[in-house]
Amino acid sequence: TGGVTTLDPGYKNTGSCESAITFLNGEEGILRYRGYSIEELADKADFLEVAYLLIFGELPTKEELAKFHSDIREQSHVDDDVKKILDGFPKSAHPMGVLSSLTSALVAFNPSSVNVDSEEEMYNAIVRMLAKFPVLTAWAHRKRAGLPLDYGDDSLGYVENFHKMMFHKPNQNYSVDKKVVDALDKLLILHADHEQNCSTSTVRIVGSSHAGLFVSISAGINALWGPLHGGANQAVIEMLEAIKEDGGDTHKFMNKAKDKEDPFRLMGFGHRVYKNFDPRAKIIKKSADEVLTALGIEDPVLDIAKGLEKEALEDSYFVDRKLYPNVDFYSGIIYRALGIPVEMFTPMFALGRLPGWIAQWKEMRQRKEPIGRPRQVYIGENLRSFKPVEKR
Ligand code: SDX
Repeated sequence: TGGVTTLDPGYKNTGSCESAITFLNGEEGILRYRGYSIEELADKADFLEVAYLLIFGELPTKEELAKFHSDIREQSHVDDDVKKILDGFPKSAHPMGVLSSLTSALVAFNPSSVNVDSEEEMYNAIVRMLAKFPVLTAWAHRKRAGLPLDYGDDSLGYVENFHKMMFHKPNQNYSVDKKVVDALDKLLILHADHEQNCSTSTVRIVGSSHAGLFVSISAGINALWGPLHGGANQAVIEMLEAIKEDGGDTHKFMNKAKDKEDPFRLMGFGHRVYKNFDPRAKIIKKSADEVLTALGIEDPVLDIAKGLEKEALEDSYFVDRKLYPNVDFYSGIIYRALGIPVEMFTPMFALGRLPGWIAQWKEMRQRKEPIGRPRQVYIGENLRSFKPVEKR
């Protein structure tokens, strides 16, 4: 009836792309940023180094890293009028909605960030984004927590200062266990890029119209928010808590998780690409044990998560469909142990993914890719004539 449009094989820009940033092999569970394995980077690098690697293609020298960090520090100020926009949100607003709005609003105060024709203009836009996003993320939390907004202490490292901006209390001495900063650093590295996932593809396609970096990142934040994507890390903890409240019976839940009608079945399980295991989930699961032990935290939800994983790996429904824990399954357990509220889990994913989004946007712009225009296969009606309303 509808007549199917044949796909012109030469059609430009089918929505897929060439990229030199991240390599992943779903069958073998391989993930590499610019050729470096995620296992090595999570173990030996820090988040700002990995951000530099993703964006500029090489690990920085000491001097390059110092200049990068200093350039970022210089751009961390956020216009006071942005605070007024933040004030306009209800305390109950989800921080992902606040973050995408404030990130878009940044253009009004940095209009030059849209023109990135020269290397210098592009570098300035990138540094501004990396500088202001952790501030906005911390402020989104502080607004919900009823805490005054400020900039922490820029003599600290990038991740440690983010932690301070999130948690320090007025008139109280701030200190943080190095293990906490290291755990945060590792989690952010593990989230830093992941090839052409939903939110990264969104950043690339919005950026392909030359709309500018800030609004392209804002679009990526919105895409990441969905529970099928980055929003899953919040949904996993809510699921595990519900199982705990219901007596911790993972078997009862597993049967429910096979219900085709429930769109968010076993949150934190399954992946479009990884069909054996998500290498990030393996590292995060090990780190969850280490962090909770180091901080002396007993979290029954971790035991429930492990119980669910064990059951799923022995259940033909999940094994047949190659469903394994993904990056979101254990990450929330560490965030919780670090005192991060569950509504801030997906913003933490966004903070981690920011360098990847920037790197992918930069690559798309520098390769002068055409405006995004994914193909379709038309399955609608054939040509038909208009009928006046009295004849319908
Ligand atoms: C991220 O792309 C990326 O790289 C994303 C990400 C990144 O770093 O950017 O890795 C981050 O988004 C990880 C995914 C987080 N989302 C969740 O954990 C939500 C729960 N997962 C599912 O919604 C699902 O697994 C997806 C969305 C992740 C993947 O969806 P697919 O590949 O389209 O899987 P599918 O829907 O084709 O499912 C195949 C089968 C179906 O059953 P049948 O129709 O064959 O009978 O598996 C079933 C699905 O019903 N299935 C699940 C399931 N996921 C798929 N059944 C129960 N629980 C699940 N979680």
